[in-house]
Amino acid sequence: MERTRLEAYYCRVDLETSIAMKILITAGPTREYLDDVRFLSNASSGRMGYAIAQAAIAAGHEVVLVSGPVALPVPVGCELVSVEGTREMYDACLARFAECDGVIASAAVCDYGPQERTAGKRVKTGQPITIELVEMPDIIAELGRQKGHRWSVGFALEAQDPHRRAVEKLHKKNCDAIVLNRTTAIGADNNSIELIDSIDTTVAKWTGSKIDIAHRLIAWIVGTLAD
Ligand code: C5P
Repeated sequence: MERTRLEAYYCRVDLETSIAMKILITAGPTREYLDDVRFLSNASSGRMGYAIAQAAIAAGHEVVLVSGPVALPVPVGCELVSVEGTREMYDACLARFAECDGVIASAAVCDYGPQERTAGKRVKTGQPITIELVEMPDIIAELGRQKGHRWSVGFALEAQDPHRRAVEKLHKKNCDAIVLNRTTAIGADNNSIELIDSIDTTVAKWTGSKIDIAHRLIAWIVGTLAD
């Protein structure tokens, strides 16, 4: 089916078969500052998360989009909460999850950040330096602990032993499903994903534009996880 007809199809299916939900979506990278001008981050463009927000809205759902810094237009109709750091994203998600029916965590969150942020700008010493990194809070894992009757869907971007690692994350973070994609997804328009459910079954493999995959994912969530 060509793209506009495909989108219309998924929207119609969702609108006909579901009640509207409020969905929390995380997107984009986070930044962890070493000093006031330098930070650790990654190359996430936010496109997958923004496509999911767009698809959810098109299907009649409400969206709270908690996003790290990206250069993308805000999907019309969603509520954007802009954040920069991992702890800021964590606080925003915890504050908004109570009012939502579920969460889709597509953000590429920094796993580590500098233990200390130097005020101003670090000066060069001419010598190697060591920066102590500490682990950042895991947002989707915490939401997974708190979720009760709500659902949660995570993402896993894996280079080595992808399926096994994705399944491990699915359970560690108490997700109802996990979307496994590869490092080639970062910054790309297209994606190729495997959707794994809570009993470790690969329920779908989709290749296509991020917006097509987003529509399929929302339709699957509506059909499978929503009450
Ligand atoms: O980075 P990792 O591979 O563990 O990411 C897997 C999932 O966990 C993704 O859905 C990501 O958005 C989420 N995550 C998170 N908070 C973190 C790290 C990852 O919510 N600190």
